[in-house]
Amino acid sequence: MTRPTPTVVRTVADLRAAVSAFRAKGDTIAMVPTMGALHAGHISLVEAAKAAGARVVVSIFVNPTQFAPTEDFSKYPRTFEADLAKLAAVDAELVYAPTVDVMYPRGFVTSVNLAGPATAGLEDVARPHHFGGVATIVTKLFTQCRPDLAIFGEKDFQQLAVIRRMAVDLDLAVDVRGAPTIREADGLAMSSRNVYLTAADRAKAPHLHAAMQTAAAAIRRGGLAAIETALAAGRATIAANGFALDYLECRAADDLGAARPDTALRLLVAARIGQVRLIDNIAV
Ligand code: PAF
Repeated sequence: MTRPTPTVVRTVADLRAAVSAFRAKGDTIAMVPTMGALHAGHISLVEAAKAAGARVVVSIFVNPTQFAPTEDFSKYPRTFEADLAKLAAVDAELVYAPTVDVMYPRGFVTSVNLAGPATAGLEDVARPHHFGGVATIVTKLFTQCRPDLAIFGEKDFQQLAVIRRMAVDLDLAVDVRGAPTIREADGLAMSSRNVYLTAADRAKAPHLHAAMQTAAAAIRRGGLAAIETALAAGRATIAANGFALDYLECRAADDLGAARPDTALRLLVAARIGQVRLIDNIAV
């Protein structure tokens, strides 16, 4: 059966009109912010929003302010028509795809200033401006759409922690929810950037997840006292498999601070293989 293509709106006024029409029927609104190049991980976020009984607004906007000049903004994959087809298949009804001028009009100077999980010494080390750009655009998306809830992938675990904290601190009145990482059969976390892996690097990529699983198992067995040894072994394995490691850390899952006995723990990793920087994380 051919499903209807989602309605695409490109301005704040059209977004608000469409959302108001949902609200007039008493519907709950869920937002799934994306940068497009949708894969099964994104689609699982839409499905989670639908499972929550909400009308789903998917935003597609490749946000320039979260890329450093040296990063891949211009070559970030843009696959709008294919994205719409994937969204139609899961009955997403509304797509918000603003232009850069809508999101950053002439004279734009305001941004969100962050600390806490945004300065945890993980992604923020290699990408010092990244979370400022993410927080600013997500704040704009939330205030433009005013959803009841928003769903983000746990794949970007630090981003999720930053947005959760920000939504509380700034009274954004959005219930920020995480959804589990979707993986390929061999364990590689799905990412829009995986398309850039060469065949040889794609074959090595699952070692990252495998090394994390081994480290997590050692920490589960040995508790906090086992963390440093498990991390050292994991770092060595990752390097031995041809990655240039940025970090492998074990942190408190709530605020990404130092591991504590009273909180759930999370292992987080970032490493380059060839031209591609992969990130991943798992619960301990
Ligand atoms: O996770 C992403 O795709 C982006 O960082 C987000 C949340 C859509 C903001 O541009």
